[in-house]
Amino acid sequence: MKRNILITGGAGFIGSHVVRLFVNKYPDYHIFNLDKLTYAGNLANLKDIEDRTNYTFIKADIADLDMMRSVISDNRIDGIIHLAAESHVDRSIKDPFTFARTNVMGTLALLQAAKEYWESLPEKFEGKLFYHISTDEVYGALELTHPEGVPAPFSTKASAGEHEAYGSEFFLETTKYNPHSPYSASKASSDHFVRAYHDTYGMPTLVTNCSNNYGPYQFPEKLIPLFINNIRHGKPLPVYGKGENVRDWLFVEDHARAIDTIFHDGKVAETYNIGGFNEWKNIDLIRVVIKTVDRLLGNPEGHSDHLITYVTDRLGHDMRYAIDSRKLQRELGWEPSLQFEEGIEKTVRWYLDNQDWMDNITSGDYERYYDDMYKNR
Ligand code: NAD
Ligand code: TYD
Repeated sequence: MKRNILITGGAGFIGSHVVRLFVNKYPDYHIFNLDKLTYAGNLANLKDIEDRTNYTFIKADIADLDMMRSVISDNRIDGIIHLAAESHVDRSIKDPFTFARTNVMGTLALLQAAKEYWESLPEKFEGKLFYHISTDEVYGALELTHPEGVPAPFSTKASAGEHEAYGSEFFLETTKYNPHSPYSASKASSDHFVRAYHDTYGMPTLVTNCSNNYGPYQFPEKLIPLFINNIRHGKPLPVYGKGENVRDWLFVEDHARAIDTIFHDGKVAETYNIGGFNEWKNIDLIRVVIKTVDRLLGNPEGHSDHLITYVTDRLGHDMRYAIDSRKLQRELGWEPSLQFEEGIEKTVRWYLDNQDWMDNITSGDYERYYDDMYKNR
């Protein structure tokens, strides 16, 4: 079936994996990738598919309502997957307004433009979907009730049931929103607007909340690519606080596959949590990353351990995130394809094999920004 799909934020980390998957898997769809190309957007992420006949890039700001109106109507868009956002918690602490502008006002402009176009069509919203990609961070923070970890209660391919959980509570689709950072507050607000457009106007919307992603093409201000790059250059690894915060990690291609499944088979107005029951204390994860980088670079074990540097904690640092994604597994049959050790190995290899990609980003403006953030802590 021919379709015109708009993917926003497709030049970013997760968006580029979603664009690649859709362009390759659905030759009958035309994929429009709309991205403002902020510091986090990089067309080099899509070099391999940029010449495909079923792919078009549009440089635009989602907060530009008139532009969103014409992109959607000129291209007769019949499905939207919305990933464009400001996404880094540390930046949101420094500059919350940019997060409100893009994540809240930008999402609202996109929703409004989609609604106006779909209302103007004779068949109304038939078969159309506004799919909003969100984060587990909107649910707030969980307690560490098992500081030493206990066997994970549920088994998936990501954890093989042997992994540890650091508490007895998990985020469910019904968990009350309780965001703490300006980033998560802006994402929570955008989630509410998306649901409001369904409840008020009958727009066919859907929201998913995913755990921390890792993998190729992630901007190197986030923990895993930052640390791989710093280890390669013998630079300090800034561990916030005591390194005891817990995050639940999912390989980015598994997230993209989940988005594909949900976009096609998910129920309108539903929420699905996406995760792999794969919790790691930051310091344990960092040790796995160091070990993997050292091994792949041919360094002896322990070679880079001295780079670990404990620094002032992030303001309002959420202690633990842990997603319960059994609804998605039960109802739509999705589960992660990779175990964490395989995913980390693939990821480290990718960054070491694609040093040009990393060097192009980390030279110039970004390096100055990062040095500034680091010195100010
Ligand atoms: P990213 O920062 O790597 O990419 C964001 C993209 O959005 C960039 O290409 C950027 O240029 C674009 N963008 C920013 N502002 C824009 C605007 N005003 N108009 C148009 N484009 C704009 O982010 P990511 O990690 O790929 O995250 C993508 C989405 O997934 C976000 O909505 C994020 O909240 C969500 N999410 C991320 C994670 C994660 O671990 N990275 C986990 C769960 C959910
Ligand atoms: P991050 O990749 O920024 O994702 P998020 O804050 O959205 O979970 O950070 C992951 C974890 O790593 C988080 O607990 C903060 C911590 N962290 C550090 O300890 N040092 C760093 O330099 C960064 C970027 C993150």
